[in-house]
Amino acid sequence: MLVVGCSHGTHLADKIAKLLHKKYSNLLVEKFPDGEMRVRLDCNVKGNEVVLVQSFYRDVSDCIVEVILAAQTAIDLEAKRLVLVAPYFPYMRQDKRFHKGEAISQRIIAKLIDHYFDEVYIMDPHLHRKDKLWHIFKIKSKRLTANNLIAEYIKKNIPNPVIIGPDEESYKWARHVAEMLGVESRILKKKRYSSYHVKVILNKKIDLNGKNIVIVDDIISTGHTILETAKKLRKLGAGRIYCICVHGIFANNALAKLRKAGIKVVSTNTIPGKMAKIDVSGLIVKSLVTINK
Ligand code: R5P
Repeated sequence: MLVVGCSHGTHLADKIAKLLHKKYSNLLVEKFPDGEMRVRLDCNVKGNEVVLVQSFYRDVSDCIVEVILAAQTAIDLEAKRLVLVAPYFPYMRQDKRFHKGEAISQRIIAKLIDHYFDEVYIMDPHLHRKDKLWHIFKIKSKRLTANNLIAEYIKKNIPNPVIIGPDEESYKWARHVAEMLGVESRILKKKRYSSYHVKVILNKKIDLNGKNIVIVDDIISTGHTILETAKKLRKLGAGRIYCICVHGIFANNALAKLRKAGIKVVSTNTIPGKMAKIDVSGLIVKSLVTINK
């Protein structure tokens, strides 16, 4: 096995290779002046199982093109098998045609991955209407979750927590984490009007007395879901508010907005950053080892 770190996956790929005691190589990526990309595999892939690690954040389209160029090159150079490890995998939220003529991006991107890879590993994919990875991918797929690690983090660092899920879909993270900790949780309702406009509704009373509030969600993108949730909780007298997410995208200054609102933010390192305090590399390695036994 050979572990190759793509441009947005090096922060985990290196650790994964070390933990697995396997060879590591950086994918060499260069941009031409016109914006096109040149990628080069700096290792001998012939006859090897190649694990490409890419987290598809920020320059999402470039990340996708890069992975496809690398995968086809590995195939051309006679790699034995190709595995994609995607700590953060994009386009999962566009899982239906919400408006006439819209692309169902989830399906289209999954088809691309099916075409080039033999197997895919994804950390906490945003699954909704299609709730299993095998509903989306034809190749062998494995869904990993950071729930355990998030629960451990809370146990060590936040006393007396009450867990809040900001929308109906967040029960997969919030409720499960609360169950692991044996503490109370509430799942709220959310109505999204646009990328930046969401309304969060408190459907039941919550006793916040003496509790540390921990909002748990899979993704923070613009941060508006969390900001609205915190606003509502403050009206109920909430004091300290923490927010823990798996994928900290933090688009358009989201982190600064959250901090200004007095919210303490923590994320896993599926996407690297200042708040990425929960390391998922061990979890990925465990899964790669178990599945390939
Ligand atoms: C979607 O339902 C996800 O679980 C997140 O709640 C959402 O992606 C967060 O987006 P934003 O930070 O832009 O409100």
